[in-house]
Formats: sequence, structure tokens, C-alpha cells
Amino acid sequence: MSIRVTPLTDPHHGPSSHRLAWLASDAAGVPVGSAFLRLFTDAGRAHLAELELRVHPVERRRGIGSRLLDAAVAAAREDRRRCVLAQAEAGSPGGRFLPARGFRKVLTLTFARLPLAGVDVAALEKIVERPHPGYRLASWYGTVPDDLARTFAASRRAMDDMPMDDADHGTVTWDVDRVRAVARAVAERGELLHTVVAVDASDGSIAGFTELVVPGDGRGDGLHYGTGVLPEHRGHGLGRWMKAASIRQARARHPELGGLLTDTADTNRPMRNINDALGYAPTHQELTYQLDL
Ligand SMILES: CC(C)(COP(=O)(O)OP(=O)(O)OC[C@H]1O[C@@H](n2cnc3c(N)ncnc32)[C@H](O)[C@@H]1OP(=O)(O)O)[C@@H](O)C(=O)NCCC(=O)NCCS
Repeated sequence: MSIRVTPLTDPHHGPSSHRLAWLASDAAGVPVGSAFLRLFTDAGRAHLAELELRVHPVERRRGIGSRLLDAAVAAAREDRRRCVLAQAEAGSPGGRFLPARGFRKVLTLTFARLPLAGVDVAALEKIVERPHPGYRLASWYGTVPDDLARTFAASRRAMDDMPMDDADHGTVTWDVDRVRAVARAVAERGELLHTVVAVDASDGSIAGFTELVVPGDGRGDGLHYGTGVLPEHRGHGLGRWMKAASIRQARARHPELGGLLTDTADTNRPMRNINDALGYAPTHQELTYQLDL
């Protein structure tokens, strides 16, 4: 079968990345697969590229994925990227394709889901209502309120030592513009970003945060984004407290929401303990693969 790989123009340029795209089509011009290569442009990640590759199920095992991969890898090299990251579900065709094409597994993320109908409400209330001396909870929808913006941006460094195993995820430097841009991007997708934070009562600064993204219609599953507690505030139960508050608010505000999804590196014991204690049950694993160029 003769396959043509055509580079496309992706008009979307984000504040910290842009994408290259390719379409694979057969002799009759029918699309059979696509590849997207995200090129990060912010300092700390300018050496990274992230790949999304897809071949129509009936066209697989005919070398189309490899042709698309070759195009993407050539572009990554040309752009002087040091590595290409890609994700695939454990046991899936992608999970077999990537190692066959030279990628090595660098990170295992376990996804877990909390079915909201089955939440033990009394236990949740107890966690949320229990005082955590020296701290108070605050929360908001959408963009961080101005009076918390500076310390919220500063609290993002809580993610810097998150276990990422061998994956090269670079470093992200957060400032107020960046946290506002993330909130804007979620809103532009029609989704609702809900943030719960633990505030250090001694100076009003943010000690930790947890973020949840809910589909715009309030149905289906919400997705937890980051949860982080600054190193100097760890060991006080703030992670569990904030996440429990986030679950409680999601239930109250979105009665039709089915569940909450969270993904955690297998080696991140503290976060896995919190999720287990709150009733999240594992659903599947996503593997991150890396190709060093
Ligand atoms: C992964 C994917 C893009 C592969 O596309 P493809 O056109 O089937 O890939 P190729 O035909 O070029 O396969 C190249 C090699 O990868 C390996 N491979 C690919 N699919 C495989 C499978 N299902 N089982 C075992 N090995 C597989 C084989 O070694 C294969 O060579 P061979 O056919 O000569 O044995 C395709 O299965 C897909 O779209 N999956 C869903 C999305 C995804 O997981 N993308 C990857 C992460 S971004």
C-alpha cells in the first residue's frame, strides 16, 4: 500500500508550546493516521517534545505508525530536541509499538477513580471538618483571586520534587501570568477549574493546593490535576484535607457528576496513600515512554 505523509499546519500557538502535525493518507487520499508533535517553548522544557500518534485500527501493522514516527522524530531532531515523550496504556498496541521503535519506559502512572455515588459522606465530612491547627482552607472556581495569586504561583514549586522516575519532564517555572493562563485555557475549553488551597494562617500564604477540572455540563468524570504541598508544610495531613474538601464541593455543586479520576506515579507513595484512604480504586495504567535523540 502506498502511503503519503503530509505535514499540516496547526494554527494553535500556546504560550508555552506549539504543535507540528502530519497526516498519513492512502493512494486514494483517504486519511489513515495522524501524528502531532508538541514542541515546548518555555525555558526548562525547550529540549522536550511530546508525541501523539494514531493509526486507524484497520490500517495497523502496515508500517504507517513507523512512517509517521519517522517524520516526527526527524522534525524533533531538526528542532534540536533532546528527547521525545509519548504515552500509551499498558498492554495496548501503543505500549508494544513504542518499545519496538526504540522508546524506553520511564514512568508508570496509575489512574484511579472515585465513584461519587459510593462516597462515604460521613467519613468525608469528618476529614474536612477536623481542624488543622495553623491552617485554613480556601477555594475558588476559575482564576485565582488577586489576593492569593502571588503565593499560589509560588506554591507551584510543591510539584518540583514529584516522583517522575526516569522521565525527563524538564522544569516549569510558575508565575502569576502562567497560573492565570492555565485557568484561561481550561475555561476556553468549556471546562470548570476548581481549586482548593490550604492557607498558612500565620501569614496568609498558600501552603498547598489541589485542582479539579469538571466537564462543562457537570456530567461524566472530573479529572484531578495537580495536588501539592510545599515541603515545609508536609506531614500535617494537608493533602488529604484539601482533596477531601475538593470531593465534597464537587458532589455538592455537580450532582450529576459520575466520578473523579486521578493519576499518580506508582512510586509516589504519599499521594497513593491519600487516594487509597479516600476510596479511589485503580482503573488502568498509562506508561510514559521516552526516546533520547
Ligand atoms: C501505536 C500505533 C500508532 C502503531 O501504528 P502501526 O501503523 O500499527 O505501527 P507499525 O505498523 O509501524 O508497527 C511498527 C512495529 O511496532 C510493533 N507493534 C505495533 N503494533 C503492535 C501490536 N499491536 N502488537 C505487537 N507489536 C506491535 C511491531 O514491532 C511493529 O512491527 P511489525 O509489524 O513489523 O512487527 C497504533 O497502534 C495506534 O494508533 N494506537 C493507538 C494510539 C497510540 O497508542 N499511540 C502511541 C502513543 S502516542
